[in-house]
Amino acid sequence: MTQLTKTSVPQNTSSCCAPSDIKQTEVREAVREHYAERARTSTSCCGSNTLYDESLISNVPAEISDFTLGCGDPITMANLKEGETVLDLGSGGGLDCFLAAQRVGASGKVIGVDMTAEMLAKARANATKMKATNVEFREGYLEALPAEDSRVDGVISNCVINLSPDKPQVFREVYRALKHGGRISVSDIVTNGEMNPLVAKGMEAWAACVAGALDMKEYVSGLTDAGFTDVRVQPKDKTQNFLSALPVGVPFSATITARKI
Ligand SMILES: C[S@@+](CC[C@H](N)C(=O)[O-])C[C@H]1O[C@@H](n2cnc3c(N)ncnc32)[C@H](O)[C@@H]1O
Repeated sequence: MTQLTKTSVPQNTSSCCAPSDIKQTEVREAVREHYAERARTSTSCCGSNTLYDESLISNVPAEISDFTLGCGDPITMANLKEGETVLDLGSGGGLDCFLAAQRVGASGKVIGVDMTAEMLAKARANATKMKATNVEFREGYLEALPAEDSRVDGVISNCVINLSPDKPQVFREVYRALKHGGRISVSDIVTNGEMNPLVAKGMEAWAACVAGALDMKEYVSGLTDAGFTDVRVQPKDKTQNFLSALPVGVPFSATITARKI
């Protein structure tokens, strides 16, 4: 099984952040505009049935479950328990928050964070339709989370961290928000090796979850540098069977887990 850990990581050579010729604010605005348009037009990319087991989404109305912009299933990975507090980074239309809310129950709480007003409006309207009373959506950035220190049991995220122009800051913020003993469970796009120069660069490719993808080894070192232990970055599903045949630097879906001790 292909699995990267801190000890197996070669030296980090590529960048964690927006290229120096692109300002971080430019990345953020391009990403925000891209997802505002997705929210306005309700255009999804993937279809929830390709990401989640049917049993997980069967209680969610199709108009909500069909609006996913994720690349995996962080809910099953997170193994959430009754009564836990969960933070979802880049909550979009809120699907993962509603699924997490079903797991943590009325005694638990789920907080979705997103920077795009149109997405927050959509997520809040969906919460009303779902009659979800244990879910709250907060406006904010992954790089400055609207969350108190050491209050959260689990952080989940679905295809968002790749969009950040400052991933080390995101990892520090997640570490700050988690309780000791808390964990992070993320689906994201990564590469195996430095981004292939043939892969599209620029704002549109960044907003489409391609150009900002981290190398797997940078994901491991970034989380480790922020203080996490048991950091694991693994190709999702069958990708690991053909990872060695994949050209270096091509983006693919991965699952990422780590703990704060
Ligand atoms: C690819 S969508 C994923 C949405 C959701 N997680 C899902 O699975 O459908 C990315 C979401 O993250 C938000 N986002 C991107 N970068 C962000 C940042 N730096 N801070 C806060 N939200 C961000 C966008 O507004 C958008 O709603």
